[in-house]
Amino acid sequence: MTTELTTPETVDRTIGLTVNGRAVHVQPSARRLSELIRDDLGLQGTKVGCDAGDCGACSVLVDGAPACACMTAVGSLAGRAVTTVEAVATTELGRRLQASFLRYGGAQCGFCTPGMLTCALALLRRVPLPTEAQVEEALGGVLCRCTGYRSIIAAVMSANLDLEPLEMPTPSKTVGARIARVDGPEKVTGSDIFGDDGVPAEAATVSVIRSPHHRAAFTLGDLDAFVAAHAGVIGVLTAADVPGRNAFGVIQPFADQPVFAEAEVRHVGEPIAAVVSSGSADPALLAAFPVTWEPLPPLMDIDAARAPEAAQLHRARPGNILVRGFVARGDVDDALGTSAHRVTRDFATGFVEHAYLEPEAGWAWVEGDTLVVKACTQAPGMDRDELSSILDLPVERIRIIPTSVGGGFGSKLDLSVQPFVALAALRFGVTARLRYTRPESMRTTTKRHPSRISFSAAANGAGLLTGVRLDGAFNTGAYASWGPTVANRVPVHGSGPYFAPNYRGEAVAVHTNCVSAGAFRGFGVPQATIAQECVFDLLADEVGIDRLQFRMINALRAGQPTVTGQVFERGIGFAECLEALVPFWERARERRGAAGAHLRRGVGVAGVWYGCGNTALANPSTILAGITHEGRIVLHQGAVDIGQGSNTVMTQIFSQAFGVRADAVIRVGGDTLITPDAGKTSASRQTFVTGNAVRLAASELRRLVLHHIGCADDEAEFESGSEGSLAVRHLGTTVPVDLSDRPVDEHGYAMSAVATYDPPTIALDERGQGEPYAAYGFGAQLVELLVDTATGRVTLEHIVAAYDVGKAVNPTLIEGQIEGGIAQGIGFALSEEYVPGRNDNLHDYLIPTIGDVPHVTSILIESGDVHGAYGVKGVGEHTLIPTAPAILNAIRDATGALVTTVPATPERVLAAIEELQHGR
Ligand code: FES
Ligand code: FES
Repeated sequence: MTTELTTPETVDRTIGLTVNGRAVHVQPSARRLSELIRDDLGLQGTKVGCDAGDCGACSVLVDGAPACACMTAVGSLAGRAVTTVEAVATTELGRRLQASFLRYGGAQCGFCTPGMLTCALALLRRVPLPTEAQVEEALGGVLCRCTGYRSIIAAVMSANLDLEPLEMPTPSKTVGARIARVDGPEKVTGSDIFGDDGVPAEAATVSVIRSPHHRAAFTLGDLDAFVAAHAGVIGVLTAADVPGRNAFGVIQPFADQPVFAEAEVRHVGEPIAAVVSSGSADPALLAAFPVTWEPLPPLMDIDAARAPEAAQLHRARPGNILVRGFVARGDVDDALGTSAHRVTRDFATGFVEHAYLEPEAGWAWVEGDTLVVKACTQAPGMDRDELSSILDLPVERIRIIPTSVGGGFGSKLDLSVQPFVALAALRFGVTARLRYTRPESMRTTTKRHPSRISFSAAANGAGLLTGVRLDGAFNTGAYASWGPTVANRVPVHGSGPYFAPNYRGEAVAVHTNCVSAGAFRGFGVPQATIAQECVFDLLADEVGIDRLQFRMINALRAGQPTVTGQVFERGIGFAECLEALVPFWERARERRGAAGAHLRRGVGVAGVWYGCGNTALANPSTILAGITHEGRIVLHQGAVDIGQGSNTVMTQIFSQAFGVRADAVIRVGGDTLITPDAGKTSASRQTFVTGNAVRLAASELRRLVLHHIGCADDEAEFESGSEGSLAVRHLGTTVPVDLSDRPVDEHGYAMSAVATYDPPTIALDERGQGEPYAAYGFGAQLVELLVDTATGRVTLEHIVAAYDVGKAVNPTLIEGQIEGGIAQGIGFALSEEYVPGRNDNLHDYLIPTIGDVPHVTSILIESGDVHGAYGVKGVGEHTLIPTAPAILNAIRDATGALVTTVPATPERVLAAIEELQHGR
């Protein structure tokens, strides 16, 4: 199967092509071009997201025209010229394009960026100043899960404009500046290292044997005979090879997921064994793996799992209940029973796939007595701790080096490839690699929880909320993952960002024989917010009050208690978010109504609040910063950047707190050996929590240096020379900072500082009263759309998003989060539903493409949080949450029909309209 590059003597039997201008001779074959350029030529800037022609990440140019490298046979390339991302910077046009991507934030995780750049280059060669439609047409084959595409469109349209270069601000103005991503150059040149990049050529391949059944008993056959019969097989791993605890999970008390199942599998794709082989995996070999299955009746939804006769999937969890969450305040039953107006509705949502462009990948090896794992992950510290338990190895003997992460959105918090490559490396003494295929990734990694929610709300005659009640059941799948977090977070957020004097929220996580549901941008709050915001629209109509006005009079304000009894005296910017929407709302209300034969235009609005960080649990981040004896400033920051921009945000906060330009800060990534634990990248916590640790470490380091040189000037700023020297500028003079006489400290620096920040919270009591988060972020979105009442098709026209971010450290990055979150919210609302065992690919599972995301107007409000560094709050998850309810409310505004099951496919929209017309 391998096509080898040839020597000149064998040229006669080969075909010739060029790759980035270099002559290459290969055997003609059906082998993929992506394999040739990545594996043989080492041009790993070209990424593989699906190997099936669906994602476009592998796009290269063949004779100047875009082509999917994964679908192009090497044998078809005789005499052709291939251009990859590595050659983009060789032309002035390419360099302009790269600079424009950096300016507009067109690269977040960067996994789609090589494909976007090559396709854009082909367009710009033909059309130097393309229209938006031309960009959408040219890039239509490349998916991006992070950006929401708007920044990419702007970057391509502006590449040939002569714009002023971005200036690096002075230290005191760094927080708030639109500096380019500090890790952006690697992303636009293709030199970024992701989970499947840079793997040693001699690495053994791990192939996981998985269940084809939702639920089954199984018996393994003769494994020794299997190994002996197949050349190239190094060995097989099963549960018997797990030296420690064959159960892992992100929340230790609930850890229940086996590395390899023992005797029974609980979902399609569950691992039972792994084959370790030299070279690449042979599908025929894997098909010959000796196992006998005995299928059992599966429990595929909440009703089946809660039925009295249902099998119990976990011994200690009767009724298949993983956990229950609960918050109560006041007397909600009385309020619902006695208020002037009351509305109750039921809602349902399905599984949603994260669909990051980078499938899970990594490799492991043993170095001395230390196991080293390089993989894409959102949580290196948690990976280390979980592997320690699985492998029965002390944490000191495990080193996790996160690669760049091609999108995570919550799912890469859980272990995926790590235990398999780690076990293979330890057991067989090899460097072991594993890259999930796209179907393997979709079949086996966590999803957004499907939900069934009943929601009631009541108001008095003036439209003031009197009572709110939420009852939610969440399908948490076969294993716990983040099910407890979802069940606990939802009741806390169930009222939305409104003052609800009487409230009761209950959520239950239920085990089924589906893939595990886990963390996905919002931890259950997006599902609950659909119910809450749609019912609030209905309630406003019942009262007879404008829907935006209803939200404004009920908006939570400083001094009012939340449903957990927490009172904030400042930092509650929700009303300002709503007020910012007013002019857009008024204009949109004038435009609503008939817009063509079957077209109806509507406008919808929805709000969001979201607590930053863990729910009433310890949540610390630790940061180390040091100065070398030459004067170089080094920031060890372990807040994994999964595309959201923490590398840049932490650098900006450090820059301002220490008092040096951001481009003088050398960043050391989240390697567990050399970087303290900054916690996981989740729950919109990094800017808020780790940002504070960065500020504290920077301030302490600054204090130490100023003390060392006897400078008492609070306004002093540092200057870093190009050769690494450091000087301090104060009172009009510049004085060198000489640290050469300092002893080496415990961290290897002339001076260093370590700081930890853990946000203050108070545990919830038996009624869910307490202070679960030190800060909430707030936002509101307005959606204008068209509904074709003949087909049910929804076309989005414009979205306005106003967010209280506390303080905008980097507005470009925040706008990127808003646009990207909205794009995911659009998919959640209109097209995305994962069905276990059915749509394990990006052809049948439909995420928004470049033509599906309308213009987005972002409005940033800075309420200034009490705790956050410079007043910051998190914003990552907040951006997705209101999109789906705003879309559903706009569909109802256009048609009168409320869709209560998402995604609101054309069939469901038509059914809702029909139901309305027939008075059902
Ligand atoms: S990897 Fe080629 S299209 Fe997805
Ligand atoms: S930046 Fe496009 S997939 Fe991440």
